[in-house]
Amino acid sequence: MIPVITIDGPTASGKGTIAHQVAQALGWSVLDSGALYRLTALAVQEGGVDPADESAVAGVASQLDARFDGGGIWMAGRDVAVQIRQEPVGNLASRVAAYGPVRQALLARQRAFRQAPGLVADGRDMGTVVFPDAPLKIFLVASAQARASRRCKQLKEKGFSANLASLLQDMQARDARDCSRSHAPLYAAPGAKTIDSSNLTIDATVQAVLDYWSRV
Ligand code: DC
Repeated sequence: MIPVITIDGPTASGKGTIAHQVAQALGWSVLDSGALYRLTALAVQEGGVDPADESAVAGVASQLDARFDGGGIWMAGRDVAVQIRQEPVGNLASRVAAYGPVRQALLARQRAFRQAPGLVADGRDMGTVVFPDAPLKIFLVASAQARASRRCKQLKEKGFSANLASLLQDMQARDARDCSRSHAPLYAAPGAKTIDSSNLTIDATVQAVLDYWSRV
């Protein structure tokens, strides 16, 4: 059985960074599942699809022409890695991620990332739905304030404008939607180890995950 470490948690809790570094330390591959929802949102936006039309959005998700390589995220031959990080895309991603048929359409694609020697998968339902048999499940949290300031810094570094108060507000709305939806809501999988990274450095958080893995 190919091992998987799942890292779930709210938006901007640092899942992506931690997942990449843990994967690098172990020589495993990584699945950024949020990127699939963001790609769906971008394709919906660009295709002029009505975001309220659940089956049309699910159609977009099932036909997504997406490819991940190195740092690049490609959609229909274009690198859209930077574009999908923008807040309007993230907010739309959170909306379309609430649709059951969209989640279903992306399920097999996510499971296909499970390849030897192992996978680190980050998202909201990696431990609860996509890889329920993962031998190590991490629930990575951080205070809303810590997450909003991290996201603000990240956006500014990428050259986007950002406002802390509105980011905090968007983040709380997105958390509420991700946690309260009926399909695969965000919660800690049974047996998950919770790590609060509010006051931890990236290195310390990566080490905490690796320590848990060494004890599995
Ligand atoms: O992790 P992220 O911010 O890139 O995710 C974008 C949105 O996608 C998030 O608001 C909720 C959704 N998502 C999800 O529902 N399930 C996942 N496994 C990953 C992301």
